[in-house]
Amino acid sequence: MTDWIADERRYLVQNYGRQPVVLERGEGTRVWDADGNEYLDFVGGLAVNVLGHAHPVVAEALAKQARTLIHTSNLYYTEPMIELAKLLVENSALDRVFFCNSGAEAIEAAIKLARRWGHDTKNGAHEVIATLDGFHGRTMGALGATGTARYREPFEPLAPGYVHVPWNDIDAIKAATNPKTVAVLLEPIQGEGGVNMPTPGYLQAIRAWCDEQGILLILDEVQTGVGRTGTLWAYEQEGIEPDIMALAKGLAGGVPIGAMLAKEAIAAHLVPGDHGTTFGANPLATATGLATLNYVIEQQLPARAAKASDHLQSRLRSLEDRFEEVTEVRGRGLLLALAFSKDIAVEVVTQCRQRGLLVNNVRPNAIRLMPPLNVTDDEIDRACDIIEAALTAVLAPAK
Ligand SMILES: Cc1ncc(COP(=O)(O)O)c(C=O)c1O
Repeated sequence: MTDWIADERRYLVQNYGRQPVVLERGEGTRVWDADGNEYLDFVGGLAVNVLGHAHPVVAEALAKQARTLIHTSNLYYTEPMIELAKLLVENSALDRVFFCNSGAEAIEAAIKLARRWGHDTKNGAHEVIATLDGFHGRTMGALGATGTARYREPFEPLAPGYVHVPWNDIDAIKAATNPKTVAVLLEPIQGEGGVNMPTPGYLQAIRAWCDEQGILLILDEVQTGVGRTGTLWAYEQEGIEPDIMALAKGLAGGVPIGAMLAKEAIAAHLVPGDHGTTFGANPLATATGLATLNYVIEQQLPARAAKASDHLQSRLRSLEDRFEEVTEVRGRGLLLALAFSKDIAVEVVTQCRQRGLLVNNVRPNAIRLMPPLNVTDDEIDRACDIIEAALTAVLAPAK
């Protein structure tokens, strides 16, 4: 029998710390490994699988498009990209869409657009203010914006033009603003940084400051978008609108896609020849995105995610009463973290996996839960029973 893990270690670049499971197939919130073990998947492909695994809407759109037209290049028009762009524009505060293939690329496009706008209208303003612990991707530009030293330092020098300020500190943004500033870039909720919530009023204060200074607000909704936080876009719950928004992850239900959305007056600054990517707007990705996003909207899955979140949060909060080491439940919608007073997240993830639940150790002292938006209450109950058993095993080991 093939030892897949040994072969992975032999043939792939060893840049990921993978869990020791070979996943073979999935259905809804469940996945099975090569040995036939079943797991509840509360990682959801890192907030990608908004409809769960093998959803017929995703699978059929993908198969139908694969039989019709997979790739053309951006030298031509295709229907799915136009339909998906229209759906995004009609269901957001933004006016125009650029498609790419990942979150990092959506950020790169957002930064290039902001700089082009600064070049044309603000005397060459180009500096971007981003937040510490913010995560925007691993390409050199997106990494420049990412606010975690250990991701950045081994790859320096990075592209210049980024300033990092502490999260939830509006005064730091004000102090960092200067005539060279073109934009503030941040996530509405910091995802990879540990599911860190904005303090009430923080995002509104940034919006007001950007308006006052005539600079752009770029929201990175790569993780929070497509219903994840209980509304289609997280900014809706903050009563603000971004000038530019980056999307990826859940947009095509698991097929690689990214999108940069912008207000009309800003988008107009990118002209033919300024930017592009071979696979961007690919019919396979955009047709699947169209089917996924239509389904998310028609089935009101953001509202379902909010309701599921209430149930999941109340179950997680009961663990706070049961274990004194459980210190916090944070997040919104189905982007939640359970935090501990000790660095036990790796052990909790292992104990959960051994009991049939996949969760992610987003911080040494916190696990992150990102199930599909259509997760059932019964699945939430089973997941929480497993987390409770895992915590019991980690915190009260058998003598
Ligand atoms: C908020 C945010 N922005 C950007 C990215 C980068 O996306 P990708 O990994 O698709 O390049 C991520 C990935 O986790 C993310 O969470």
